[in-house]
Amino acid sequence: MDAIANTAEVVGGSGSATRFTREFLDIRCCDCMELLEEYPDKHFDLAIVDPPYGIGAERGKNETDKAKFRDKPKGWDAKPPTAEYFIQLFRVSKNQIIWGANHFIENIPQPNSKHWIIWDKKNPGRDCSEGEMAWGSQMDSVRIYNQTRVMELNRADGGKIHPTQKPVGLYRWLLEKYASPGDSILDTHLGSGSIAIACHYAQLHLTSCELDPDYFAAACSRIKSATAQETFGFYARDRTANDNSNPIQTNDLWTSIPA
Ligand SMILES: C[S@@+](CC[C@H](N)C(=O)[O-])C[C@H]1O[C@@H](n2cnc3c(N)ncnc32)[C@H](O)[C@@H]1O
Repeated sequence: MDAIANTAEVVGGSGSATRFTREFLDIRCCDCMELLEEYPDKHFDLAIVDPPYGIGAERGKNETDKAKFRDKPKGWDAKPPTAEYFIQLFRVSKNQIIWGANHFIENIPQPNSKHWIIWDKKNPGRDCSEGEMAWGSQMDSVRIYNQTRVMELNRADGGKIHPTQKPVGLYRWLLEKYASPGDSILDTHLGSGSIAIACHYAQLHLTSCELDPDYFAAACSRIKSATAQETFGFYARDRTANDNSNPIQTNDLWTSIPA
């Protein structure tokens, strides 16, 4: 991890040789199984992953997205990851937040636990999903992220470049709540690069990969322009110091459902 800190960005090569690095970020264009095999047991402090759910979402889930992405069907959301993916994921990471875990519950070690995050998209009655669920190994109860309407979040992020793009603010919230300073973060399915922008702001090391070369190139370009701006002064909270203050300045609203 230290080897990539403070290095200049590199985007080059093709296929699995294509790599983008800059301070805090190491992102490759490759299959996640290839990436996972490289790392020893419990190498990463926290894996925040958003794999295919197996629901065909790559074509867009609402009418606006369908118009934008339907001509570029890529087929990556036909099936969820294999059982072997989850074995490798739990092997290389100490803690996990797994989006879409309700779609592959058989691979979650404690399916009956209360360890869930709900992202309320504030899209009531629309044709797309009204929310998404993530299983998290560290949660003490159900947590809900409901900052603002997803369409407004996407606009604030400069628009959508990926059909299942999650807002940067959602990842910033996750890092603030579940990461500690100095943590190494893993994301095996980068997509639009929202998590990379959040890790840059949080000054947390991210290792990530994206299989699709078009998404990889678009994400690198988005990360470059987003990180060219001043950071927002956001740092992961030091949970060891029992600091319960919330350093996020974006009027985040979250509620906790008692266990
Ligand atoms: C659900 S999307 C991730 C969206 C992301 N969280 C965001 O905010 O933009 C899943 C991504 O995984 C990629 N993908 C699918 N199979 C993969 C694999 N075996 N290895 C790496 N990436 C893969 C897809 O191309 C897609 O971009």
